[in-house]
Amino acid sequence: MNDFFRNAQGEPVLLLGLQSGNSSSQSHEHIMACIRAVKQYGGNVLEVPVYWNFVEPEMDAYCMDMVQNLLDWVRPSGLYLILLWFGANKNGHPNYAPDYIKKDPQTYQIVVGHDGMQRPTLSPHCKATLERDRKAYCEVLKYLAEADVQHTVIAVQIENEVGLSGTDRDYSVLAQQDYLKPLPEELHSVSLPDCGETNGKDTWRGKFGRHAHEAFSAWYSARYIQEMAGAGKKICALPVYTNVMLGEQGYEEAGTCYNAGGAVSRVLDIWKKAAPDLDLICPDIYLGGKDVYMRVLKAYAREDNALYIPETMPAGEAAALNMFRAFEMGCTGLCGFGAENTLKDDGTLTDEARSVAISYRAVRNLAPLLIRLRGTGRVHALLEEEFTDKAYVRLEYFHVEASFVRHMDRVPASHFNTRLPEYAYHARERGRALLVEVSPYEYYMAGAGTGINFILRPGPGDEDAFALLVQRQSTQLNHLSVEEGHFDGKGEWHTDFYRNGDQSNFQVYLNDGEVVRLRLNPAMCARIV
Ligand code: DGJ
Repeated sequence: MNDFFRNAQGEPVLLLGLQSGNSSSQSHEHIMACIRAVKQYGGNVLEVPVYWNFVEPEMDAYCMDMVQNLLDWVRPSGLYLILLWFGANKNGHPNYAPDYIKKDPQTYQIVVGHDGMQRPTLSPHCKATLERDRKAYCEVLKYLAEADVQHTVIAVQIENEVGLSGTDRDYSVLAQQDYLKPLPEELHSVSLPDCGETNGKDTWRGKFGRHAHEAFSAWYSARYIQEMAGAGKKICALPVYTNVMLGEQGYEEAGTCYNAGGAVSRVLDIWKKAAPDLDLICPDIYLGGKDVYMRVLKAYAREDNALYIPETMPAGEAAALNMFRAFEMGCTGLCGFGAENTLKDDGTLTDEARSVAISYRAVRNLAPLLIRLRGTGRVHALLEEEFTDKAYVRLEYFHVEASFVRHMDRVPASHFNTRLPEYAYHARERGRALLVEVSPYEYYMAGAGTGINFILRPGPGDEDAFALLVQRQSTQLNHLSVEEGHFDGKGEWHTDFYRNGDQSNFQVYLNDGEVVRLRLNPAMCARIV
């Protein structure tokens, strides 16, 4: 898996959905609420945990009721399911380990901090824990291989936001032995940023300087996950990933700002070397600020790592806007966390959830194009950033300018067709749009609260540049058609409604996630054709 998750027919699928709350997998009522929520978002996937202590309540006595229930409950909805293996490490905690593990810390060793005191994490250096965790995980995969021939399950997450809680590394006797071993061969070619003084010696300190302890924790945590992933891959070919508690938090020090050892961007290269059987390393993004959000996207959207966001905020303006940045960067899918919490008592979405649902709708509507054109630079996000009322993108032949509806003095109702009540709602939140360039004179766009203008750019030799720029024929009237419609399952476009007259002769308005196709007039774009 190097780009998208794939369906049973092997076709790429852009995933949009929600993750249930941590305790929900055991309850039919909760899972049904989650499904209702995903449906209202227009999503196609639900992420749900499977608990190790439910799967193996007693040592070597396996029970797959939870897995079967989840298949039975989710399959009729038509949603894909991502199972999250909550094993030895859930955010650095062992909550989901069976009692027999928790009761025997001599065998299943616990992380020790620099002060000699225990930390609440099972040690990634302990082979006995790995063996038990891996065995139970493999039992689940064996079960799935038989019970899910329909491929409802589209991927599996191994553990949850792994890392060591409250320390930069394990200082137990066991871990200390590992620390004194020569540096693994695979890491000789890896360098990390800002390591300070290093002496080039074949040791953790010699190679990674002031980040030696974090690098050490990252390697051993990743090797643990690799052992799980590698064993699982021999049983079934489902894509597997790890999710990351981000390093881009606070002053960005391991063990205090975030659990040490997880695949934070600083140590991503170590994880890539240590865990080749992991298909993806995925950031859980709960950050709203543009700069830090972009830093995270840039760190995880790499040639060797398709961007998938397994957890993010399911509601609110920041989430509604930021997801467009992610899809501009080639994101393959995302899930908001806490599906049940997005619903009001009457079972409908909260207002904050609704604005994210509108962004989901826009992305889902463009999905075939986002899949086809990923990585080409032809997907553009036009966003109402803080303190701005316009956005701009310069294409080869066009200036494209987006204005945001809530900043417009007066927008004639007729521009919105029958959508005025929806518009009144959206006008209170930030405008946002995704623009996809299929050819120089064919565009698809979706979003909310946005009007878009295409202005033919004068060529280098155009003496009459000004005259061209002020003609409506080369700006707002330069279109053959403005169509609302949808893509079918094969990715073919179907026009449902032609916008014309008042509805087409000004900007291309985007209201509540609908997709609009704009065909510009090639005759007006003489230098293009
Ligand atoms: C991140 C974790 O991965 C989730 O399981 C959940 O605990 C959320 N934080 C928020 O509560």
